[in-house]
Amino acid sequence: MEVVIAPAEELAVLAADAIETLLRRDPATVLGLATGSSPLKVYDELARRHEQDGLSFDRATGFMLDEYVGLTEDHPQRYRNVIETEIASRVAWPADRVHGPDGLADDLPAACAAYEAAIAQAGGVDLQILGIGTDGHIAFNEPGSSLASRTRIKTLTRQTRLDNARFFDDDVDQVPSHCLTQGLGTIMDARHLVLLATGRHKAEAVHQLVEGPISAMWPATVMQMHPHATVLVDDAAASRLQLGDYYRQTFESKPGWQGL
Ligand code: F6R
Repeated sequence: MEVVIAPAEELAVLAADAIETLLRRDPATVLGLATGSSPLKVYDELARRHEQDGLSFDRATGFMLDEYVGLTEDHPQRYRNVIETEIASRVAWPADRVHGPDGLADDLPAACAAYEAAIAQAGGVDLQILGIGTDGHIAFNEPGSSLASRTRIKTLTRQTRLDNARFFDDDVDQVPSHCLTQGLGTIMDARHLVLLATGRHKAEAVHQLVEGPISAMWPATVMQMHPHATVLVDDAAASRLQLGDYYRQTFESKPGWQGL
């Protein structure tokens, strides 16, 4: 696991560099997309590169991590719509190449199975962007999630619903209580995991993710088992890391050509 501690703008550039490298090498790259605040600067940077440098998403495929259950098709917080607004529309990504679990399906387990099949059919995810919840969730794999889980329906914790109430007029009751989410096993199949976290409120979750024992109580800790996982954090999110100085020295002495 590589840990990079830098200001948020630099983290976004590093993540965008990794994505651009893949897209330039193989325009049919498969990208895993997160919603929430953490990836927004990365999406801004990709949109800038699309506009100014012609970075193309025409042949790329996107798979979202998760989706709320029951939000109407036109709800602005439906993750499919959030992804459309925050990244897909800004990089002219063909709509039929960006996929998410169907939170409006009559048969939710069948929708989850179909989603797993679609990811497999696409050849798996090359690079998965991730954020982390204050309770250590990735995607919506809340504490107690099986470390081998696949896409399925989950109940959001009260903490996650409170954290996300800011997107719902600060009204926790408007935040759905259920979601469909890629499982930890699904996420672990991606070839490169890139997690972004900023702010002091993420410091404990980041400490557990990087330095804690692997445990379903902190689901992100499963990433310690991934052969290519990158954790991009600002000073505040890194503030509880025991080996912070070591991670800083390691990144400073890394040759620039190496990438993430
Ligand atoms: C969203 C997702 C979640 C968020 C996490 C952090 O698709 O999968 O795991 O990444 O809740 O949210 P933010 O980035 O808003 O702090």
